[in-house]
Amino acid sequence: MKKLTIPDIIKRKGGEKLTVLTAYDASFARLLEAAGIDMLLVGDSLGNVLLGYESTVPVTMEEMLHHARAVRRGTSAFVVADMPFLSYQISIADAVKNAGRFYKEAGSDAVKLEGGPEVCAAVRAIVTAGMAVMGHIGLTPQTAANLGGYKVQGKDADSARKLLADAKALEEAGVFAIVMECIPDRLAKVITESVSIPTIGIGAGAGCDGQVLVTHDLLGMFDKFVPSFVKGYANLAPQIKDAVSAFKEEVRAGSYPDAKHSFSMQLDVDKLFSDEG
Ligand code: KIV
Repeated sequence: MKKLTIPDIIKRKGGEKLTVLTAYDASFARLLEAAGIDMLLVGDSLGNVLLGYESTVPVTMEEMLHHARAVRRGTSAFVVADMPFLSYQISIADAVKNAGRFYKEAGSDAVKLEGGPEVCAAVRAIVTAGMAVMGHIGLTPQTAANLGGYKVQGKDADSARKLLADAKALEEAGVFAIVMECIPDRLAKVITESVSIPTIGIGAGAGCDGQVLVTHDLLGMFDKFVPSFVKGYANLAPQIKDAVSAFKEEVRAGSYPDAKHSFSMQLDVDKLFSDEG
């Protein structure tokens, strides 16, 4: 599949829906590309899903780069890397330098960062330096505590107005697409119709220009917490547990490995050692 370019992605606004899924390693990246997913997101959700943190806050630049490099080795599709907490908030220089690390050290095609007007100076500087930025508004997990936890955003008039203003500010700052997380579907549709760049929804209804999910959620592999908007397209956790238990039982019973899963040899090794001994 030919890698999308930024103009290709922007042209999809209002047209064929964009598909985005998280990838954290080369083997998943290869599978998602083979299935024709448009963009792979090295999400900082890897903090919860892979690294066992309680939130995305502890995730570091080094951890993100390690996974972004692995994803790049597995795919030639369009890869977006999440900028972790405090990699773009401390100074504009830091934001540009850290975005650049994803480009130079991991071969990423774009970076994503969370927030509205407060991150627009960083977005402008990264875009001016020649890189592509995806925005992320609504439920922003890195600052979820300030939003009252992992809750739907934009339900009252003030917060709905704020989300529309956030999207317009990001568009004006130069993002090429905006993730909208946990927003009522009608508000997400209004925002989608008010900006000229694609919106990518997650828990934001069908009116967005594309959809993103955490792959482990879609596959039913992460059963610690499953948000209500996730549709499980497979339920792999029980299958994984069953397969692993079957391995354990067969090893204990001595039925694995059998002859079919062992290497044979012509030489009569028992005779060889008894002759030599
Ligand atoms: O980190 C992530 O996986 C994300 C998606 C949920 C949009 O930001």
